[in-house]
Amino acid sequence: MNVDVRPESMERITTPELAQAFIEEQIAAIREQVGDGKVLLALSGGVDSSVCAALLIKAIGKQLVCVHVNHGLMRKGESEQVIEVFQNQLDANLVYIDATDRFLDLLAGVDEPETKRHIIGEEFIKVFAEEAAKQNGIQFLGQGTIYPDILESKDGVKAHHNVGGLPEDLDFELVEPVKLLFKDEVRVVGRELGLPDSMVDRQPFPGPGLGVRCLGAITRDRLNALREADAIVREEIEAAGVDAWQYFVAVPDFRATGVRDGQRAYDWIAIIRCINTVDVMTATVPELDWSLLKRMCDRILAEVPGICRVAYDLSPKPIGTVEFE
Ligand code: XMP
Repeated sequence: MNVDVRPESMERITTPELAQAFIEEQIAAIREQVGDGKVLLALSGGVDSSVCAALLIKAIGKQLVCVHVNHGLMRKGESEQVIEVFQNQLDANLVYIDATDRFLDLLAGVDEPETKRHIIGEEFIKVFAEEAAKQNGIQFLGQGTIYPDILESKDGVKAHHNVGGLPEDLDFELVEPVKLLFKDEVRVVGRELGLPDSMVDRQPFPGPGLGVRCLGAITRDRLNALREADAIVREEIEAAGVDAWQYFVAVPDFRATGVRDGQRAYDWIAIIRCINTVDVMTATVPELDWSLLKRMCDRILAEVPGICRVAYDLSPKPIGTVEFE
């Protein structure tokens, strides 16, 4: 049987009982595959890698080494949550690498979107490979590959390795315990493993992070303003109970005139993006309540230094892609 093909008889995991049965089955399979070996896993804080890590921790405890690379382009509170959940609550073997300066120094002055993405991807692999080289006795690489990744890679839509193509000399055997699951099933399993809702229900977040939302050449002050405005938008949309697929802020690299406390201001513009979609090939923009839009606008203008205007992006995909870069 091809282990990359989901058997037709496999029941969709929709209940805690089915999740529990899956977890037990996978714990046995992981123990059998890994024995007393060590597994290395890049833990981004996204749903798939988090659920994969939680499952591996349950199966092999400290034989798993999680590496969280903070590239300085995470959203507010995200790296802190990874440390809190995995190190403090699940007692994982977690290596936290604050590579903020490394990434931001490399990105300084780079304004071409594809070059920015390339730099972030390459540097991520470098940082991770350096850490792997420091660890002794690793034989396995844990990956939160899920079934749509496998299907899309078969269709040639994208390569399915989550780490983005590690160098050949990192000769590890893969451990991919959630690779036959769809996203909704990964969430049910994650909840059953005790991960917090905020992690399990996390909206998609691109690998290059806020780097593709801090438009043009990234500067630290504009990135900080973006991160604060984004946190306000997430908080308000979640508090309002809006059922949206993705919502965030982008900040372009130009300024606009304003007036604040009787003084001329010359600050950035926060653009709120909120979309709904089924497959992310197309997306629509929901009609958010005016009161919600106003509340987000008022809070950003009052609480985020460096922003003097707020706009709501009305563009559906196509023509506008979800991300700005
Ligand atoms: P676009 O901008 O292409 O985005 O309409 C479609 C979906 O993909 C996400 N996205 C990424 N996800 N790495 C990822 O893991 C990336 O480089 C990347 N770029 C875009 C985007 O957030 C949206 O959900």
